[in-house]
Amino acid sequence: MQASALLGLLAFTAAAAAIPATPRQAHSDASIQNLKTQIKNVVVLVMENRSVDNLLGGQTLKGLENPIQNGPYCNPYNLTNPAEGTVCSASRDYDSITDDPDHAIYGNNFQFYGSFTPDNARIAGGQLTPSQQGFVHEQLRLYSAAANRTELSTQVMNYYTEQQVPVLTTLVQNFVVFNHWHSDIPGPTDPNRAALVSGTSYGHGSNDMAFLKHAFPQRSIFQQLTETGHSWINYYDTAGGTGPDAGFFNWTYNTNNTNKIRPLKNFYSDAAAGSLPEFTYINPSCCGVGTNSMHPSGLISDGERLIKSVYDALRAGPQWNDTLFILSFDETGGFHDHVPPPLALRPDNRTYTTRTPSGERYTFEFNRLGGRIPTLLISPWVGKGYVEQKGRDAQGKIVSYSASSILRTLGYLWDFAPFNARVEGAPSFEHLVRTSARSDTPVVLPIPVPFR
Ligand SMILES: *[C@@H]1O[C@H](CO)[C@@H](O)[C@H](O)[C@H]1NC(C)=O
Ligand SMILES: *[C@@H]1O[C@H](CO)[C@@H](O)[C@H](O)[C@H]1NC(C)=O
Ligand SMILES: *[C@@H]1O[C@H](CO)[C@@H](O)[C@H](O)[C@H]1NC(C)=O
Ligand SMILES: *[C@@H]1O[C@H](CO)[C@@H](O)[C@H](O)[C@H]1NC(C)=O
Ligand SMILES: *[C@@H]1O[C@H](CO)[C@@H](O)[C@H](O)[C@H]1NC(C)=O
Ligand SMILES: *[C@@H]1O[C@H](CO)[C@@H](O)[C@H](O)[C@H]1NC(C)=O
Repeated sequence: MQASALLGLLAFTAAAAAIPATPRQAHSDASIQNLKTQIKNVVVLVMENRSVDNLLGGQTLKGLENPIQNGPYCNPYNLTNPAEGTVCSASRDYDSITDDPDHAIYGNNFQFYGSFTPDNARIAGGQLTPSQQGFVHEQLRLYSAAANRTELSTQVMNYYTEQQVPVLTTLVQNFVVFNHWHSDIPGPTDPNRAALVSGTSYGHGSNDMAFLKHAFPQRSIFQQLTETGHSWINYYDTAGGTGPDAGFFNWTYNTNNTNKIRPLKNFYSDAAAGSLPEFTYINPSCCGVGTNSMHPSGLISDGERLIKSVYDALRAGPQWNDTLFILSFDETGGFHDHVPPPLALRPDNRTYTTRTPSGERYTFEFNRLGGRIPTLLISPWVGKGYVEQKGRDAQGKIVSYSASSILRTLGYLWDFAPFNARVEGAPSFEHLVRTSARSDTPVVLPIPVPFR
């Protein structure tokens, strides 16, 4: 090819680069090599208890399936008495929700299947699929049917407008957002947080004492990285309330690695100095007024303030051009989402048995995902305003993303095999990292303001 023709081609390629093209295949040598070339630092911030339809329900970016574009979605007030009528998703939710929705495993069962004890055999066989009709009924049961029904149903069905969540809106419009990303477990925070960093909750289905007692023996990303010479720090908000998730594991304590668990204020100075480790994991505070995880009754605007602080610090720091920032949530927190969670491979043979409010026992086999949660990839190396749909597992089958997709992808970056079958079966997302960096990423995010 002549030099002039080559220059012409280069000019053409530069012009075409504005299209958020993702030509590579997940799990391919080319996309894995590109990930390793471009990304040196990964930052993971896991917020609390919000579904896609709730938090991103008002986003108008095409490709995101949500109530403002595809709804409204409705739930009956009472599943067994249709005469009580229905209530539908509507725009604007509260900055603070005082009645935390149910997100125990049985609560999620009711929200998805309309029963605390859905038939596991029929679920596994595909004959019983979630209807997503029980969110309002369960909220009314939990907080007394005598309370203000409008207020309770609004809390679980309504969604935030783009103006209410300016930080998230800017991130959605400037980076990659997933349309089909689910929590690993249809249950509460600690089991989901453990699964995110180790691929399993080791049979735990509630926020029990074992999490505080460092009782988890399975391999975590923290152990994996240390043993292969990679650096990590688990920064945590010292106001407390979530994690620190590296502290769940016996290994962290037995091997004297607790010095890698540090206060969040160190994150800001490390980011400014360019001394963030290869893997940064951030625990927000939770769960009451004044905390910043977005968990009820913490304010949504306080959560946005934390996300902005983390982004602004990374964007201003010297490591930005090597960084992939993954913003996700632990679970849906009992907020409505219209997409039925799919089945997934069991990570291990452990089960969790609980007693439901109706007095029955229910055994969960960890063979299905929780609801959709907001997840974004934020980096100069990802497309602008790109909505990722479902992904592919290593066999090329199209499946929904889950929290295990993080471990699946980081295994490619830092050369480790999937910790278990659940992680192995998860789609990876390294193909969303592009071959050239953008220079148009926002310098700072908008300042969120409290609302009603
Ligand atoms: C739903 O309706 C049934 C039948 O009328 C009633 O027994 C039950 O108490 C109602 N549940 C709630 C949460 O209002
Ligand atoms: C119920 O709550 C709604 C929304 O907050 C409010 O507009 C309405 O006045 C309340 N109704 C009663 C009877 O308190
Ligand atoms: C490790 O876990 C066991 C239970 O699995 C617990 O009894 C023990 O205290 C833990 N050890 C440390 C050092 O945290
Ligand atoms: C643990 O780490 C501290 C500080 O890094 C060090 O002084 C101490 O000797 C270590 N202990 C063990 C048992 O490795
Ligand atoms: C990152 O890359 C951009 C575009 O290539 C460049 O303008 C900027 O100076 C780089 N920033 C740092 C901190 O290296
Ligand atoms: C789970 O149990 C099955 C049947 O007993 C066994 O074949 C399999 O190896 C077990 N899986 C794990 C991860 O232990």
